[in-house]
Amino acid sequence: MELKEVLNKRKSIRSFKEKEIEEEKLNELFELMNLAPSAGNLQAFKVKVIKSIEMKKKLFNACLEQESILEAPVCLVFIALPNESAKKYGERGTFYSLNDAIIAAAFTQLIAVDLGLSSVWIGAFEDEKLKKELKLKENELPVCVLPLGYANEKGRERKRKALNEIIEKE
Ligand SMILES: Cc1cc2nc3c(=O)[nH]c(=O)nc-3n(C[C@H](O)[C@H](O)[C@H](O)COP(=O)(O)O)c2cc1C
Repeated sequence: MELKEVLNKRKSIRSFKEKEIEEEKLNELFELMNLAPSAGNLQAFKVKVIKSIEMKKKLFNACLEQESILEAPVCLVFIALPNESAKKYGERGTFYSLNDAIIAAAFTQLIAVDLGLSSVWIGAFEDEKLKKELKLKENELPVCVLPLGYANEKGRERKRKALNEIIEKE
């Protein structure tokens, strides 16, 4: 698919078919995600792949009970690793690791579209609850959960600001 088509097609999808995601497809998604840029090429993030109903229920509880989590066959949790970035960049490492994780997640949403999949970015969660449920270390920072699967809805109507509200030319 052309990049322009991917960008036009991507929409937040919150309802998914029961169909599983093929393992090969998931691996291809991760291979392509791994091409994302990162500060100093340190890739200071990790991704937890959640498939079991037990773990999805825990995510659901930590993410304000968003149904998309229970519906999706796979949920990906993107986690920034500030310590890995701090080895090279000191205090700046937190900022960089958050960027690394967020860029990888954004790439993943686009790659998913190219592979016929859909997702929604979930940022509404209770940090401490999510960290506890995922057994994360003190310093590891979850940045988003991406429920991923085959769309069972069209998504909402697309609304955007006018470009002159966003673009400031000198
Ligand atoms: C940082 C961030 C946090 C978000 N959190 C949630 C969320 O918790 N639940 C949800 O359903 N959608 C969430 N979204 C998705 C947005 O609502 C969605 O991207 C926006 O309305 C634009 O719609 P579109 O993605 O279909 O273009 C989030 C998106 C971003 C970038």
